[in-house]
Amino acid sequence: MSVASKEYKRITTKTLFEMKRKGEKIAMLTAYDYTMAKIVDHAGIDIILVGDSASNVMAGHETTLPITLDQMIYHASSVVRAIERALVVVDLPFGTYQGNSRQALDSAIRIMKESGGHSVKLEGGAEISESVSRILSAGIPVMGHLGLTPQSIYKFGSYTVRAREDEEANKLKADAKLLEELGCFAIVLEKVPSALAKEVAESISIPVIGIGAGDGVDGQVLVTHDMLGMTHEFSPRFLRRYLDLYIEMGNAFKNYIGDVKSRDFPNKDEQY
Ligand code: KIV
Repeated sequence: MSVASKEYKRITTKTLFEMKRKGEKIAMLTAYDYTMAKIVDHAGIDIILVGDSASNVMAGHETTLPITLDQMIYHASSVVRAIERALVVVDLPFGTYQGNSRQALDSAIRIMKESGGHSVKLEGGAEISESVSRILSAGIPVMGHLGLTPQSIYKFGSYTVRAREDEEANKLKADAKLLEELGCFAIVLEKVPSALAKEVAESISIPVIGIGAGDGVDGQVLVTHDMLGMTHEFSPRFLRRYLDLYIEMGNAFKNYIGDVKSRDFPNKDEQY
C-alpha cells in the first residue's frame, strides 16, 4: 500500500516548496532504468533522482566522473517513460557545466529535450553560480548539491564527512543562501554534521534534502540499490537497508541454476 500523500497527483517544484512550508517530509530515491523507476514511482516517491551514481552502480566505475552526458540522457529517458507522479531530477555529469556557463546551458537543454526530465542537479556553490544562473534563465529548474560532492572526490581525497571545521561550514552556509537567491528549487546536502544541516534547512525557504545529513532537514535521499541491499560492499553509517537483495537474489539464482541442472525446470506445466 502506498504511503504517499493523496493530495498531490503530480509532484512539481511548487509542490516541494509547499511540503516544506507544511512541514511534510520529502522522500527521494534514485533510479536509472524503466522497471525500477516504475516500482519506485508507484510506491509514491516524491522525487526520482537519475543520479550520476549510475556510474558506480550501473557501470561499475570507482567514481562518478566517467559517466557521459549521452549515458545520463539514456538513463533519464528510460526513467521518464515509467513515471506518473514523481518529479524527475537528472544529474549533470562531471565536465559538462563547470567553468563554462554556455556549455552548462547546452548540457541542461540536451537533458531536458532528449530525456524529458523535469530538472537538473549540479554540484557546487559560488564557483558554479554563473552556470546555475544561466540554466535557470532558460526556465530549467535547478537543484543544488553541497557538502560531499562526489564529482570533486580527487580534491577531497576521501568520502569522509564534510564541513566539520568552521571555515568549510561557513562556506557551505553561504553557498546554500546563494543557491536559494539564484533561484534553485531545492538543495541536496550530503554527509555533513546534522546540526549544520539543520541550521541550513532552517535558514532558507527552499527544501533541503539530506543524505547522511541527519533528521533536521526537509527530506531524505538514498541510492535505491543501497537501500535494497544490492550493494553489499557499501556500508556507511547513514544507510538504512530495507532488504538484503544481494542475499535474496543470490539465493534465487542458485535455486534456478539447481533446477536447470537437475532438470526440474521446466516442468510439464511450464512448456508448450
Ligand atoms: O548521484 C547520486 O545518486 C546523488 C545522491 C547521492 C544524492 O547525487
